[in-house]
Amino acid sequence: MNKLIKIVGGSLVVLAAGVGVIAGAAVLLSDQKLNRVVDVKVAAANFGSFTPNLQRGEYLFVTRGCSECHGARGEGKVVFEDPNSGFYVHSPNVTRGGGGAAATYSDTDWIALLRHGLKPTRKPAFVMPSEDYAQMADEDIASLVAYIRSMPPSAERKAELRMPLMVKALYAFGMAQDAAEKIDHTISAPVRVPNDTHQQGEYISKSCVGCHGQGLAGGKIPGAPPAWPASANLTSAADGAMSRYASVEEFRQMMRTGKRADGSAIAVMPFEGLRAMSDTELDALFGFLKTLQPKASGTR
Ligand code: HEC
Ligand code: HEC
Repeated sequence: MNKLIKIVGGSLVVLAAGVGVIAGAAVLLSDQKLNRVVDVKVAAANFGSFTPNLQRGEYLFVTRGCSECHGARGEGKVVFEDPNSGFYVHSPNVTRGGGGAAATYSDTDWIALLRHGLKPTRKPAFVMPSEDYAQMADEDIASLVAYIRSMPPSAERKAELRMPLMVKALYAFGMAQDAAEKIDHTISAPVRVPNDTHQQGEYISKSCVGCHGQGLAGGKIPGAPPAWPASANLTSAADGAMSRYASVEEFRQMMRTGKRADGSAIAVMPFEGLRAMSDTELDALFGFLKTLQPKASGTR
């Protein structure tokens, strides 16, 4: 009896030690990963050759999710807070005031962040979904950045990231990736926003890939909180979500209200920004999605 207790007790000690070692490794590795310098070629940029459109810049700031995560005035805000796990994310102030994170950004630094997910030090951002912006046209980035640089300065607010052990472990061992890992850095982005409606729809859909997958076939979002449902299949698969939207009016209604026709709420989607999308963009997006060849749901 005593012997059994000793064996069981001893095994528990070994097990606890093992868990401790893995936890320690997760903390160490995730910190190392977050502090690695990523070696990709960032093309030198100069937005001087574009006539910035501040109205377009503001539109992009809202509809592409920047304001939803950084605040309407770019002041920085709580992005995610889960008291149970201790996961806490506060985005930084991105205005030029109060030592904002982008206060001293060059045009090239903006390209590094939006296209490659890298800070000026070329270390990766973690929460910021740059994979959704990697294909944004130079012309649009120039307008977006001109708008951000024109924003009234906000008070000091630095980014704050508190990751629970579980998230650190997922990140350390590759189950959760930062944008720099997800982006294919060899694909070049367009210079201009396409004029053709179909191509415009495809262009806008590049801002949905972080959650819906590069192939837009949906599925579990890697690294997302377990409570989040899988993202929907946006191809024309029979079981895909687009089968619920026969007309562009129904699609617009859903994107503006965050609800399906039956009144049920759609989770996770950043509707605060999406609902401000113009009819022109929603129509182009709808038209494009409707032409997607069916892919099996969940294959991303
Ligand atoms: C899902 C939330 C989210 C969205 C959407 C988002 N950001 Fe961020 N952003 C963050 C967080 C969090 C950080 C802190 C760095 C990190 O990701 O770990 C950050 C960092 C930044 C930084 C500072 C990077 C540095 O050098 O430290 C800038 C500039 C920025 N974001 C601009 C933008 C712009 C412009 C957009 C829209 C095109 C945008 N963000 C969209 C959450 C977001
Ligand atoms: C932050 C992640 C995220 C982003 C960004 C995002 N989606 Fe979603 N989307 C989801 C998730 C998760 C669901 C499933 C929600 C549910 O089941 O309640 C979903 C569901 C949908 C649906 C199905 C609605 C229905 O009837 O059930 C459509 C259509 C859709 N998204 C389109 C888009 C488009 C187009 C974009 C880009 C403009 C986009 N999403 C951007 C996460 C996202």
